[in-house]
Amino acid sequence: MIENSKMPTHVGIIMDGNGRFAKERNLPRSLGHQEGAKNLKELLYHIYDMNLKYVSLFAFSTENFEREEKEVRFLMDLFVTLFKKELKTLKDLGVKVVFSGRKEPLPERVWEAMMDLVDATKEGTKGILNICLNYGGQYEIVDMTKKIAEKVLEGQIKIEDITKELVEKNLYQNLPPLDLIIRTSGEQRISNFMIYQAAYAEYYFTDTYFPAFKAKDFDEALIAYQNRNRRFGKNETKELSGNE
Ligand code: IPE
Ligand code: IPE
Ligand code: MG
Repeated sequence: MIENSKMPTHVGIIMDGNGRFAKERNLPRSLGHQEGAKNLKELLYHIYDMNLKYVSLFAFSTENFEREEKEVRFLMDLFVTLFKKELKTLKDLGVKVVFSGRKEPLPERVWEAMMDLVDATKEGTKGILNICLNYGGQYEIVDMTKKIAEKVLEGQIKIEDITKELVEKNLYQNLPPLDLIIRTSGEQRISNFMIYQAAYAEYYFTDTYFPAFKAKDFDEALIAYQNRNRRFGKNETKELSGNE
């Protein structure tokens, strides 16, 4: 049973396995991505229904640009279609959408659809949906370093002012740390996803491919998380966020 008092504040999902889901069914990879997108919508209804406040999704990594041009183009078009189509749904749900990642080399049409979605949902108070698109955790740290270095050079801050809090304010988004990271499809790696925010996250790996990862599977991940013993480096048992 899910315990409401032990809900994670911030959940990250590495939505992996769309290609293999399609391959197993003798379908093109593009259909796997489409099925993944369809599944995501259902999953988000479930997630915001249970009052989870922060969700980060890994939609496309900086390294994913190295895939075949055809697949990259398909995914870029899918993002535009989805962001336009789901704008109203997300707005009505009260979800505020933010993005993490670099602008270059995203096609202009994708960037515009992203900005429209951000703008349309900016008043949302039910939860934050952070979509990592053209995102790499190492680049996020590089970009944060550049922002801080510029401030030092311009005399806005001194070296002594660089604290953990300042670093966090200069990441793409200033979100609470990740409590739980779910990765579908059997791979047990982080693939450059939110490496700073993942410092004390609990990991949950499942063999299920993302298009087949349903609400009940998400609940299983939550239950597994709630049974973990998070210590944060201390020797006594620290209760899960939310506390009993
Ligand atoms: C995840 O599914 C979606 C993206 C990375 C964009 P994959 O496309 O990585 O699917 P597999 O891992 O090849 O099965
Ligand atoms: C991670 O999946 C990126 C996303 C889910 C968007 P990949 O399929 O790109 O990761 P690797 O290549 O298996 O590490
Ligand atoms: Mg993959």
